[in-house]
Amino acid sequence: MGRHVTQLVIITIFSLFSRYSSLEDGPPSPYNYFEDVVSAGYDPLAYPSYLTTKDLFSHTTQLLIPTSPSTKTVNVDHFGATGDADDDTPAFEKAWEEACSSKGQVVLEVPQGKCYHLKPIRFSGPCKSNLTIQIYGSIEASDDMSDYKEDRRHWLVFDEVDNLLIQGGGNINGNGKIWWQNSCKINKDLPCKDAPTALTFNKSKNLMVQNLNIQDAQQIHVSFEKCDNVQASALTVTAPETSPNTDGIHVTHTQNIRITDCIIGTGDDCISIVSGSQNVQALNITCGPGHGISIGSLGSKNSKAYVSGVTVDGAKIFGTKNGVRIKTWQGGSGSASNIIFQNIEMFNVSNPIIIDQNYCDQDKPCKEQSSAVQVKNVVYKNIEGTSASEVAIKFDCSKTHPCQGILLQNVSIQEQGETTAKAICNNVKLSEDGTVFPRCC
Ligand SMILES: *[C@@H]1O[C@H](CO)[C@@H](O)[C@H](O)[C@H]1NC(C)=O
Ligand SMILES: *[C@@H]1O[C@H](CO)[C@@H](O)[C@H](O)[C@H]1NC(C)=O
Ligand SMILES: *[C@@H]1O[C@H](CO)[C@@H](O)[C@H](O)[C@H]1NC(C)=O
Ligand SMILES: *[C@@H]1O[C@H](CO)[C@@H](O)[C@H](O)[C@H]1NC(C)=O
Ligand SMILES: *[C@@H]1O[C@H](CO)[C@@H](O)[C@H](O)[C@H]1NC(C)=O
Repeated sequence: MGRHVTQLVIITIFSLFSRYSSLEDGPPSPYNYFEDVVSAGYDPLAYPSYLTTKDLFSHTTQLLIPTSPSTKTVNVDHFGATGDADDDTPAFEKAWEEACSSKGQVVLEVPQGKCYHLKPIRFSGPCKSNLTIQIYGSIEASDDMSDYKEDRRHWLVFDEVDNLLIQGGGNINGNGKIWWQNSCKINKDLPCKDAPTALTFNKSKNLMVQNLNIQDAQQIHVSFEKCDNVQASALTVTAPETSPNTDGIHVTHTQNIRITDCIIGTGDDCISIVSGSQNVQALNITCGPGHGISIGSLGSKNSKAYVSGVTVDGAKIFGTKNGVRIKTWQGGSGSASNIIFQNIEMFNVSNPIIIDQNYCDQDKPCKEQSSAVQVKNVVYKNIEGTSASEVAIKFDCSKTHPCQGILLQNVSIQEQGETTAKAICNNVKLSEDGTVFPRCC
């Protein structure tokens, strides 16, 4: 197994370097076209976040394990994990303690061909080592809801673990069916309560999470919270279309995160980006079913929210409720700014392009309020495909805080059926360039 790890490490190094070389010249292609959008009314000065952001991902190479014989392998089986039907939680806790407290290069290994059963676990740092976790086998969540009585909101938590690499091609299964059945969105008689996020990364720097299958989360699949410098790639995230609130990848209060080459299809947003997030890149994402790629919701319960510097570049979105969406509640404040959606194909998406400043996800209607989260400097470029509904483009912006600096450039969305697609545009300062269809009337 040692050699196996070594080979993987080498592959990782090469794939990283190839990524790196393209990063060396600064941020990738999306940034180069500001010049050509200035003429269309876009405000390039609105991009300070990119200029001031420290060299993105520059520390990530140090995560790599040298192929040294001194690498210590901590195998969960050696701590009593069996991977039969028994609870493997104590074994994982002991293995974590050993791995996290060891100095030098440490690999925590979850062997192939077995399925380990876990109750909620916190993997807490800081660790003495820069850890690699190789998940070759499967990890499955306890579906006994009483196991979560101390904390209903989390299953696996990595808290304050810097310089962490998780990979291995294995499965992480939230076994969420029981939670979906007990969701107030499915059974209207039940009160609305939290359900666990399958995999949470909290307050951690320099993370790399790659090549894993994550499925059937109790609620959100993967959440990055208060993290800095994250690469998430080659993740496959799946849950039934009918599973409630099962966002794929959730980003909150996190800076400098790149999500690449992921396939995500769940019952809620493929990717959701909420307040406190800055410099978020999502590249080559396949999304559907679900609710699409969302910024927000922002500003609920009159809160202040800031999101800036989001690039979604290269996405295929299939049969989702929304394509690319920005959603804010009335009554909030702050801003969602400097956002680019480009090179996106949509197939039969109900709301392909949507800004909704009147978002209201509650039973009671939301009352009209004058404050709003400002939406400004949003580019939609090279987007084509089909809409499942008549309204392919919808900008439903606030009367008091109209959307500013919205640019549509080479956007063409046809309706899936016979009728002609249309755009609805309220309170939006819009520029158009190149081919744009449908157009605001
Ligand atoms: C862990 O990584 C950090 C930077 O990412 C580096 O400064 C440190 O030397 C590494 N520690 C070990 C034990 O390799
Ligand atoms: C994340 O870290 C913060 C401290 O900044 C702490 O208050 C919070 O409980 C942590 N969340 C989790 C899920 O551990
Ligand atoms: C895009 O992501 C898919 C799915 O992970 C992958 O198979 C494909 O190679 C990626 N394409 C590029 C150009 O990286
Ligand atoms: C398009 O989506 C609608 C539901 O939004 C569905 O009823 C219809 O079958 C889909 N059409 C195609 C061609 O996939
Ligand atoms: C818009 O599309 C046309 C035709 O495909 C292309 O020639 C042009 O370069 C595109 N413009 C931009 C800004 O990408």
